[in-house]
Amino acid sequence: LLSEMVLGAQYDYGAYDPRRDDFRKGTFPDGFIWSTATASYQIEGAWNVDGKGESIWDRFSHTPGKVDRGDTGDVACDSYNKYREDVQLMKAMGLKYYRFSLSWPRIFPVGTRAGGVNQAGVDYYNNVIDELLANGITPMVTLYHWDLPQALQDRYGGWVNEALVQHYRDYATFAFQTFGDRVKYWITFNEPWAVCVAGYEMGFHAPGIQGSGNSTYLCGHTILKAHASAWHSYDQTFRSVQGGQVSITLSCGWTEPFDPDLPADVIAADRDLQFQMGWFAHPIYTSQGDYPPAMKDIILQKSLAQGFQESRLPQFTAAEIASISGTYDFFGLNHYSSGIAMDKVSTGQDPNFWTDQDLESTVAPEWPQAASSWLYSVPWGIRRLLRYIKQNYNDPEIYITENGWSEEEADPPILEDTGRLCFYMGYINEVLKAIDLDGVNVRAYTAWSLMDNFEWAEGYTERFGLHSVDFTDPNRPRTPKQSVSFYKDVIANNGFPE
Ligand code: NOJ
Repeated sequence: LLSEMVLGAQYDYGAYDPRRDDFRKGTFPDGFIWSTATASYQIEGAWNVDGKGESIWDRFSHTPGKVDRGDTGDVACDSYNKYREDVQLMKAMGLKYYRFSLSWPRIFPVGTRAGGVNQAGVDYYNNVIDELLANGITPMVTLYHWDLPQALQDRYGGWVNEALVQHYRDYATFAFQTFGDRVKYWITFNEPWAVCVAGYEMGFHAPGIQGSGNSTYLCGHTILKAHASAWHSYDQTFRSVQGGQVSITLSCGWTEPFDPDLPADVIAADRDLQFQMGWFAHPIYTSQGDYPPAMKDIILQKSLAQGFQESRLPQFTAAEIASISGTYDFFGLNHYSSGIAMDKVSTGQDPNFWTDQDLESTVAPEWPQAASSWLYSVPWGIRRLLRYIKQNYNDPEIYITENGWSEEEADPPILEDTGRLCFYMGYINEVLKAIDLDGVNVRAYTAWSLMDNFEWAEGYTERFGLHSVDFTDPNRPRTPKQSVSFYKDVIANNGFPE
């Protein structure tokens, strides 16, 4: 089977040729979950249809200059109308799981239950879930994949405001009540790092805030509390009846020290992982809880030197630390790329998230680059990161909730997506090594994405899909790329048998 699938001449695996000596043949554990993912704003369209409220991404993409070429998610892949077809694409690939997200303002148009429930939105998600189940596909639902109701942004300023903890809990509780009879896998937040850094510091994602020292950390603080509050809501009220699982999805690249013999670089690389992953993982996945000590020390020192009265990183009370620690049922990981870190002591003059890290980051010249500026193919990075999670966060069950590769928009579209094939081949093989050789408890692998979609500030210029979507055609036809047949083979074989 392996010979048919990968040793045949039909694919070019480039640097990750499976004939290499370090390619691992073998299968994944029984019951291993193969999945693919999307998110509401990126695929649904129907932004103002059937009573849906405005989200911060509707507002942001409609603001000139925010998204490349002025692209919007107004129609996107039109999955609001085409979800049945999407389910058939998954079925044809042999997928048994699908990760998608709910649009909060499609359910609560102004963000709160008191402001009204949009029954058409509830019906839509009921239909998607039922269609999946009727086709033997298990839904994994993300509650927040970045499309906050604009009304909550306007009223509270978004995630910097603690008021969102209760609103988020109400929304999550409604979702558990409404869909939890059929949905058993819940993800509270997708990539809080990106929400806070891109949305509240750099401003290139909605709501477009450019931070001045602490908005990034305040955002993270609220999200951690909101996550924990929703987890407890499920744990107290729904778990015993519905028997599902609730966790968060964190994004993290792997960071390698520039000079592994230089202690300062080794510490810098670890510091980068603390700021990327530890920021959210330490409070949730360690028994001592709270932010990573390295983060607390650095930000406090810098804040005082910058003339602040106290740390720009907010503090949790002892009760909050205790109530956030342990609020997980698995570790959701989005991983794409790697970097190389060098120590650098900044002047401390510029109070923000980036200077707080005191490092410079680079990449190796031989790493293949995707269409996305930040994305390089470094298959061994995922194995090291998985090992790092096992060692630092209590050996959790890890669900890889995203991993994928972008190519440029092209006419005709790139259907022979060898870059993506190489990427998937390399990364999936390293996941197998992490399981077999390092004993990492990986339960799921999820390819981002089922189809080309709205890639945030890059609009439709970067294509992550297994399927190509023609955004110039009002019917938004989907066409499988070559990586569909590759992934289908991997799923059918549960890996790479001899
Ligand atoms: C992470 C995000 O969750 C997803 O929305 C995005 O499209 C992919 N990475 C690719 O950038």
